[in-house]
Amino acid sequence: MGDFEEILLGREEIKSIVCELGRKISQDYEGKELVLVGVLKGGFVFLADLMREITIPVDMDLIAVSSYGASTRSSGVVRIIKDIDINIEGKHVLIVEDLVDSGLTLKHLKDLFYTRGPKSIKICTAFDKPCKRKVDIEVEYKGIVLPDKFIVGYGLDYAGKYRNLPDVRTLKSEIYMASMQINGNGTEKHV
Ligand code: IMP
Ligand code: MG
Repeated sequence: MGDFEEILLGREEIKSIVCELGRKISQDYEGKELVLVGVLKGGFVFLADLMREITIPVDMDLIAVSSYGASTRSSGVVRIIKDIDINIEGKHVLIVEDLVDSGLTLKHLKDLFYTRGPKSIKICTAFDKPCKRKVDIEVEYKGIVLPDKFIVGYGLDYAGKYRNLPDVRTLKSEIYMASMQINGNGTEKHV
């Protein structure tokens, strides 16, 4: 297993989770103008799969943010690296994230998007770790709740690696502990 402890979710399991979310979203937004906003970098794999399970017309865009803090934790200080290009005024926005942990990144994005006059803003995440929440934020669509373990794969990285894994795996703690001792806190990273 190399750097990994175990495979938490296999390809087929992820596929059925994404399929179910796409079905629900298509039903709920029928007849509405929907804009999907994927959060880079992590959210792009999920967004690509999810949008192909949505059967109603949608517009999409991407936002790139980075978070300051230790490399396996989020500090809540979010910097926008690339904003969306499309106008969301009067549209229904669905923010598509890989994983909600503290909720700080999404709280920041939701507050930002609200200033632009959308009709609604909801959140869709593939994976959720509610036990790590630091802010009260509603997550309307969630694929699956995961235990409090650092995970990689399906878009999620550790220090920029493992995003390309088709499944979701737990990383051996010695991998990230060792690197935290070398790098310390205070680094900026793409979420
Ligand atoms: P939050 O702001 O704490 O909710 O976390 C935001 C982002 O941190 C997630 O969208 C991920 O990109 C990243 N993140 C949080 N937990 C993990 C993890 O276990 N593995 C990889 N990335 C994570
Ligand atoms: Mg993310």
